[in-house]
Formats: sequence, C-alpha cells, structure tokens
Amino acid sequence: MMSGAPLPQGQEKAKAVRGLFDTIAGRYDLVNRVMTLGMDVGWRRRAVRELRLPGRALVLDLACGTGDFCRELERRAYRVVGFDFSHGMLVNAKTDVPLVEADILRLPVADAGAEGVTCGFALRNVVSLPDFFAELARVVRPGGRIALLDVSEPDNRVVRAGNSLYFNRVVPMIGGALSDKDAYSYLPRSMAYLPSPEEMVAMLAEAGFPDTRRIQLSGGLTQLLVGTRT
Ligand SMILES: C[S@@+](CC[C@H](N)C(=O)[O-])C[C@H]1O[C@@H](n2cnc3c(N)ncnc32)[C@H](O)[C@@H]1O
Repeated sequence: MMSGAPLPQGQEKAKAVRGLFDTIAGRYDLVNRVMTLGMDVGWRRRAVRELRLPGRALVLDLACGTGDFCRELERRAYRVVGFDFSHGMLVNAKTDVPLVEADILRLPVADAGAEGVTCGFALRNVVSLPDFFAELARVVRPGGRIALLDVSEPDNRVVRAGNSLYFNRVVPMIGGALSDKDAYSYLPRSMAYLPSPEEMVAMLAEAGFPDTRRIQLSGGLTQLLVGTRT
C-alpha cells in the first residue's frame, strides 16, 4: 500500500489490508510492543475484564492476528476461537486455541453461536462497519457481550498533538527500522476510516447492542467499546 495513494475502498481495501498484514506478520508482535511502549497488553487485559461473562463461556476473537487477545482470553478461562483472513498473521500466531482463516464480515459461525466477542485494532480495517456490527449481532446470543478496541483521537488538545506527531512521524520510523515503512505509514492514515465515537456507539446500538459505552484508555490514545446483545 503506497503511502501517498488515496485510501482504498471496498474489495480493493480488503485485498490491500490482507496483503499488508501478510507482509508485516513476522515482526508484528515486536513492532506492536515497541510502538505502544507495551501499553497494548494492558488495553487487551481491560477489554477482557469488561466482558464479565461466566467461566468457560465461548468467546470469538475476531481479527485475532497473532493471538494476543486469544492468550489473554484463555488465561481468564474462556473457551476461545480466533478468526483472521491473513494467512501470514495466523501462521505467526502464538496460541494453542483453534484459529480459523475467515473474513470477519462472513463468519462461519451459527446464529447466536457465541457468548462473547473481542476484536482488537481492526475496526479501521473492515470494508463496512455496519456490516461488521450486524455480523456481531448475528453471532452473539442475547445477553452476550462484546469488547472492541481501536486507536482513537485523545480529547485533550496537547495530548492529541503529541499523539498525532508520534503516529505520523515516529511510528513510520519505528516500522521502517524494524519492519515495513509503507505498512506503518498506512497506520496513521487508516484513522480516517474510523467514524466518530458517537457514530460508532449509535451504529452498535442500532445493530443490537443498545447499552454500548465507550471507555477511553491511556488518556484517550485507545478506545474500548463494550456492549450487551439484547
Ligand atoms: C492491527 S491487526 C490486530 C491483531 C490483533 N487483534 C491484535 O490485537 O494485535 C488487524 C488484524 O485484522 C485482520 N483483519 C482485518 N480485516 C479483516 C477481515 N475482514 N476479516 C478477517 N481479518 C481481518 C488483519 O488480517 C490483522 O490481522
């Protein structure tokens, strides 16, 4: 994905995203830890805590990548299945839970087949967020819970400026040094795909998670959307 090119849409976007993650899969974990200064571990931990499901509940980790969420879910004694469409990410996954190569917009899962869903840092990547939220509503049974993480724009002006500088300048440098510069230049640009927090909460309510709330983590660097299926 070239850094100056317009952001792709539709199936072109899906193809570009899959190719990008196949390219960076081998060093994804390393770059992630360096780039987030290790804070991503705490963000996933908080998301899993917010699920509040009974032990042994079945949780689907969507866009599981190399399995960070899967490991945390397993640690909390949930039954877990991970789904991702990047073969490269799945091959590099470090988890014993079952992993399925699939598009999270068309899950090979029965209606109301799961008690919970987690999804980390992939909302920006799907071709259609309303379709993704509808798919969540289809697979999560009534009373089931979702916990979705993604990057966000901090409310505080100073923190926002620092964050923007970090994402636009430092992240591509770290990515270029350790992995692939083009791919990590895409990361800040892909923020443009994310609707506002209010829009996402409204979309989730409309899809079947009316109590959805948004929690800001680390001063708003990351957002967590949690909700219950009616
Ligand atoms: C930034 S990585 C996040 C990986 C992991 N969830 C984490 O927290 O580290 C985004 C992942 O979303 C996956 N992805 C994006 N769109 C997808 C789709 N439509 N179906 C399946 N996986 C998708 C990518 O392949 C990639 O592994």
